Formats: sequence, C-alpha cells, structure tokens
Amino acid sequence: MTLLSCLIIQLFWAFCVKGQGRNCSRPPILENGDITTFLEKEYTSGSFVEFKCQKFYAMEGQNRSFCDNGKWTKAPVCLEPCTISVEEMENHTIVLNERANENTLQGVFLKRGDSLEFRCKPGYVLVTTSSESTFTVQCNENPIIYPECRAPCNITKQQLEAKNLLLSNGQRHTHLIQSEHTVEFMCSKGYTLITPSIRMCVNGHLDLPSCISETGRTCSRPPIIENGDITTFLEKQYTSGSFVEFKCQKFYAMEGQNISFCDNGKWTKAPICLEPCVISVKEMENHTVELNERANENIPQWVYLKRGDFLELRCQSGYSLATNSSESTFMVQCNENPIVYPECREIVCDLPGVVNGRFRPQRNMYRDGDVIIIICNHGFHSHVGCNIAECTKNGWIPPPRCSST
Ligand SMILES: *[C@@H]1O[C@H](CO)[C@@H](O)[C@H](O)[C@H]1NC(C)=O
Ligand SMILES: *[C@@H]1O[C@H](CO)[C@@H](O)[C@H](O)[C@H]1NC(C)=O
Ligand SMILES: *[C@@H]1O[C@H](CO)[C@@H](O)[C@H](O)[C@H]1NC(C)=O
Ligand SMILES: *[C@@H]1O[C@H](CO)[C@@H](O)[C@H](O)[C@H]1NC(C)=O
Ligand SMILES: *[C@@H]1O[C@H](CO)[C@@H](O)[C@H](O)[C@H]1NC(C)=O
Ligand SMILES: *[C@@H]1O[C@H](CO)[C@@H](O)[C@H](O)[C@H]1NC(C)=O
Ligand SMILES: *[C@@H]1O[C@H](CO)[C@@H](O)[C@H](O)[C@H]1NC(C)=O
Repeated sequence: MTLLSCLIIQLFWAFCVKGQGRNCSRPPILENGDITTFLEKEYTSGSFVEFKCQKFYAMEGQNRSFCDNGKWTKAPVCLEPCTISVEEMENHTIVLNERANENTLQGVFLKRGDSLEFRCKPGYVLVTTSSESTFTVQCNENPIIYPECRAPCNITKQQLEAKNLLLSNGQRHTHLIQSEHTVEFMCSKGYTLITPSIRMCVNGHLDLPSCISETGRTCSRPPIIENGDITTFLEKQYTSGSFVEFKCQKFYAMEGQNISFCDNGKWTKAPICLEPCVISVKEMENHTVELNERANENIPQWVYLKRGDFLELRCQSGYSLATNSSESTFMVQCNENPIVYPECREIVCDLPGVVNGRFRPQRNMYRDGDVIIIICNHGFHSHVGCNIAECTKNGWIPPPRCSST
C-alpha cells in the first residue's frame, strides 16, 4: 500500500465514522406513556428507545424513536380514552350489555378506536327500532353520541280504576308498555268512551282515554256551533253518555272532535269551525301571482281555501320568484294569519354588449320574451344557425355573441 492510498483509506474511515452521526442524550418524554427500554446516559446514532402507553391510552405512531445524528425521531402520542361515567349512563338510561365482570362503579374507559356494546335500561327501547335495545358506541376524537332510549309507560291498576277504564282483555292490572307501542282500552260497564280507545306510549307518556257515566243526569239542547251543524237526529232530551255529531259548513275546517257527549247533565266541548281563507283574483293580481292551472279553465273571482290546506300558485307571465328564479310554482298555506305571498319580480334583461357585431331593436330595457336580432361584423358569426337571442328569467338565451370560429 502506498502512502497515498493509505491516506485515502484513513480519510474515508474518518468520514464514515463522522457519518455515523452524533450521539443523543435524553430520549423524548411521552405523556401518559413510558419508555420500556433500559434508560442510558447517551445513545449512539441508530439506537432506539421503545414506548408503551398507559392503560386505556391508544398509541398513535410508531412505538420506537431512533437516535438520528443527535436528534430523536418523532415519538408516538398516547391518545386519551373515552370515559363513560355512571352519571352519563344514568342520564342516557343505558347500561353495559355484558356481565358486570368489570368494576363499572366508576364508569368505563374505552380505548380510542375501540367500541363497546350498550343496551337501553330494562323496558326502554331505541327510538330508531322501537323494539331492539342494544347498540354500539365507538371511541373516536369526537364526543360520543348515544342513541335515544325511550322510557316505557307504566299504567297502574289504580289509574285504570280512577278513570273507570279496563284493558282490552277486560281486566285491570298494572301494565308496562314500550315506547312507540299502542294499547287499547275500554270503559267499565255503565260507562261510555268519549275519546279514541287506542293510545300510544311516547317516551314514558301516555294519555288515558276518558269514560263518562251512562247513569248521570240527562242533557237538554246540544251546543250550537257557528258555521256548522248537527248531523244527528235532534231530540228533546239526551241520556248521559249519548252524543251529537257535528259537521262544518263547506270550506270550514273542524278543530276538535266531531262529537259532543252528554256527561251528567253537561255537554262536552263542541268542535270549532275555522274560517277558510278567501283569496280574490284582485289580490293575486296585486301580488303578480296566479293560479297554477291550465289557462283555458274558468278562473273564479274568489278562491276558497280550507284552513290548513295548500294552494299552488305561480308568478304571472313575465315575472319570476325573487328567491329562486328556477322555481316556477310555489305553495301558499291557509292558516290563521293572512296569506303570505313570495315576491314575484319582473323579468328584465339589460342591454347586451355584443363585441364584433350589433343588434336590433335597440331599447333601454327588455322584458321576458323580447327577442333581438344579432348582426355580426364581416368575418364573425353568431351561434350556428341562430342569429336571435331571447330575454328570459335566466338572461339572454343564447348569449348574444359574435365569434370568428
Ligand atoms: C457515544 O456514546 C457511546 C456509547 O454510549 C460512547 O462510547 C461514545 O464515546 C460516544 N461518542 C461521542 C462522540 O460522544
Ligand atoms: C413495538 O412494536 C413492535 C412491532 O409493531 C412490536 O413487536 C413490539 O412488541 C412493540 N413494543 C411494545 C413495547 O409495545
Ligand atoms: C346528566 O344530566 C344532568 C341534568 O340534565 C346534567 O346536569 C349533567 O351534566 C349530566 N351529566 C352527564 C355526565 O352528562
Ligand atoms: C309500575 O308502577 C307500580 C305501582 O306504582 C310499581 O309497583 C311498579 O314497580 C312500576 N313498574 C315499573 C317497571 O316501573
Ligand atoms: C266524525 O269523526 C269520525 C272519526 O274521526 C269519522 O269516522 C266520522 O265520519 C266523522 N263524522 C262526520 C259527520 O264527519
Ligand atoms: C291592491 O293593491 C292596492 C294598492 O297597493 C290596494 O289599494 C288594494 O287594496 C289591493 N287590493 C287587494 C285586493 O289586495
Ligand atoms: C331553486 O329551485 C330549483 C328547482 O326546484 C332547485 O333545484 C334549487 O336547489 C333551488 N335553489 C335554491 C338556492 O334554493
């Protein structure tokens, strides 16, 4: 070996050793985790430490950090678990869907990414299925969202007794009914049902029907309702438990039950007939709207609309909805307030700017359906086979233009 080649080799080794890199000191500290490898004062480049997260904490990233030329590579992160406290479970009326082999007195911890099965408390059901009660929650970075567990209704013997009610099997006993399920009732002998017999339990709430005695005092004249009539045969006297039936005049909407019962000398609440909305053609014209019907149909001077009903209208020709010009028709509803019409705006188009051409007729403003003729300069032409443009609710169609291609 010559001195020179020896020198080169020495230089090479010096370079290689230097290339191995500087040592590292303290490895990174991991929050909610520990280093599992033996701790040293110094670490050579290329050596590593290994991490472990505390119980229930999930690791994000590699479990090792390497010493790389005096610097540590990125350490992992320990992600917090989801904690589900006993109070939270209580609040959502849920319990764990497994044998309580774990001590759940302090609640449960759920590792990030993991899921756990829960169940509604006994009797409670999921509103989504109304019969099943188990569901799974997953721990991710967002707060846990629980499905709604709905409470059952507890009908007691005492409640049934107090209201002279029986269950449909003719018996009277405490009865538990799941939310979203129905139950049928009947009255004790000598009593008449005056409200619907089938009732639904909705999240722990159920209205019991009412019964009235058939042995109470009789009633005389039944109530008179405005804008409505009694449809049943009129009598001098009505026994307790009997009823009259009502009907509202045409276009009047009924609010309440259509029957009234004689209850021990007094009539139960009679229905009310609600006035219809009366819309005049003039009023529609004022709002630049019209009925959305075929034009050849006989347009009445007045339109009657029952309370709660809808009427389909459209903007008059040449107008379009201010809120959404692509919507051609809209609905108005009759309620206790005057009808609210959306704004119909007149369709106008501005003077178009046509480069390399002109158009006629020239006006200050164009309305819906107005047409212009485009005359292009020599060497330019408008849309193929179409040298006219029309003013529409969407502007000029097609866009007036003269192009060389
Ligand atoms: C790097 O650390 C190793 C072992 O801990 C040690 O032998 C070596 O001398 C250190 N090198 C430097 C440049 O400090
Ligand atoms: C780190 O990860 C490797 C490979 O994924 C695995 O073999 C090793 O057991 C893990 N170490 C610890 C302390 O979890
Ligand atoms: C449980 O509900 C109560 C009352 O609605 C509320 O104040 C409390 O913060 C809730 N607790 C939990 C853990 O959700
Ligand atoms: C229903 O009510 C009765 C009487 O109040 C009570 O004894 C019973 O425990 C209740 N049942 C449920 C499931 O709440
Ligand atoms: C009264 O209401 C009942 C039930 O809603 C219905 O069956 C009956 O036809 C109504 N009677 C009249 C006169 O509208
Ligand atoms: C129509 O509008 C005019 C003026 O705004 C008003 O005086 C008239 O009462 C309106 N007519 C109807 C039927 O709304
Ligand atoms: C306008 O109406 C059209 C047709 O009904 C509809 O597709 C569109 O979403 C509406 N736009 C807005 C902004 O409401």
